[in-house]
Amino acid sequence: MWGGRFRTSPDAVMEDINASVDFDRHLFRQDIAASQAHAAMLAKQGIITADDARKIAHGLDTILSEIESGKFKFKRALEDIHMNVESRLAELIGLAAGRLHTARSRNDQVATDFRLWIKATIDAVDVALAAYQRALAEKALEHAATVMPGFTHLQPAQPVTFGHHLLAYVEMAARDRGRFADARKRANFCPLGAAALAGTAFPIDRDATAKTLGFEAPMANSLDAVSDRDFVLEALAAAGITAVHLSRFAEEIVVWCSPLVGLISLSDRFTSGSSIMPQKRNPDAAELVRAKTGRIIGALEALLIVMKGLPLAYQKDMQEDKEGAMDAFSALLLSIAAMTGMVRDMTPDVARMRQAAGAGYSTATDLADWLVRTHNMPFREAHHVTGRIVAKAAAENVSLDRLPLAAMQAIEKRITNDVFTVLSAEDSAKSRASYGGTAPKNVRRQANRWLKALEKGR
Ligand code: ARG
Repeated sequence: MWGGRFRTSPDAVMEDINASVDFDRHLFRQDIAASQAHAAMLAKQGIITADDARKIAHGLDTILSEIESGKFKFKRALEDIHMNVESRLAELIGLAAGRLHTARSRNDQVATDFRLWIKATIDAVDVALAAYQRALAEKALEHAATVMPGFTHLQPAQPVTFGHHLLAYVEMAARDRGRFADARKRANFCPLGAAALAGTAFPIDRDATAKTLGFEAPMANSLDAVSDRDFVLEALAAAGITAVHLSRFAEEIVVWCSPLVGLISLSDRFTSGSSIMPQKRNPDAAELVRAKTGRIIGALEALLIVMKGLPLAYQKDMQEDKEGAMDAFSALLLSIAAMTGMVRDMTPDVARMRQAAGAGYSTATDLADWLVRTHNMPFREAHHVTGRIVAKAAAENVSLDRLPLAAMQAIEKRITNDVFTVLSAEDSAKSRASYGGTAPKNVRRQANRWLKALEKGR
């Protein structure tokens, strides 16, 4: 392509380090769409003839179907997707192909292609996260009243409902979707026509190409247009936070599945066996979701480091933006799909959950609250009295709701039989009906609200 200036071909190592077509070939749809928009605009502006534009459009259509059907031969010697397409176009339509690159550069081309790719990928992530939310909300509705232990410090703290726990992840996914939507808004401006870095002397119509490609508007500064990758960084930051959320749930699945805990089980469809220990059923998918967070966050960090200190405008360093991002997003989409599958697949052991919910004196706060409510005791005093009752129950090795009334009255004589209405795990969960609390009626309301919103595509 630059034979005018160059005499010999590149060293093999030069080709190896320079070629990007092995990964930027995934931009072929975006690259061809951008070329189509550019050629049509050039013709409309009288920069190329209508006849050449027709040949270019037809040639690009052919190339698109060649790539889609796997017939296209990508050549590393041609460096990247842009040169591979242009070179094939020359084979197909001859001289007219050489007019396509008028008033543009690979610098604005690649920035345009990758913005289009990031937008499409964000859309795919949004659909996947909505499906994940739906699976969670459906399960939450089904288990609105299933009590389980709620944890702080991974110690049983207070009873919660399984549905409430699942809905926590629906909320997180909603904010994840919001972050992606925000990133998409800022990615939605078109670099095409910035050319190499300074714009062009040709009378191009950047509004037209931006509009054809579905962007809100052209980017206002040509140097900025070709040299920033913040749109990738923002998408990766949103991906990293999403992956962190998924990893926390994945970790809970791993813990809950352990026979030592036994709160849920996964079926054959989402577990694997051991090659040596016949009894094993391992939650590999959850472990891998937990692990994939590493490469997703790694891609963000790698690109932040690539971009740090880069002077304007385009630098070849920026070619390193694609591999990590593409890998991160395929890992993220796979992780969301796996989590959605596991949510649908998991079966809570309702009896074990209930038993564990009541263990560890998890309703001690309910007893203290009862003392405050019924006898107007200051909470600090109630906390102290309850602590002594818990110690007594522990010494007798019984749960709070099994400790005889007389034993409680020996510590606080104003306690009556009425206290037993707040000491079971179910009663405890049911009583927490404050907004955002775990009560089954709240969970039902929130799950239904989510299901309705998701139905409407939100
Ligand atoms: N493959 C390049 C990239 O991804 C395309 C832009 C090349 N521009 C250049 N001036 N060499 O960044």
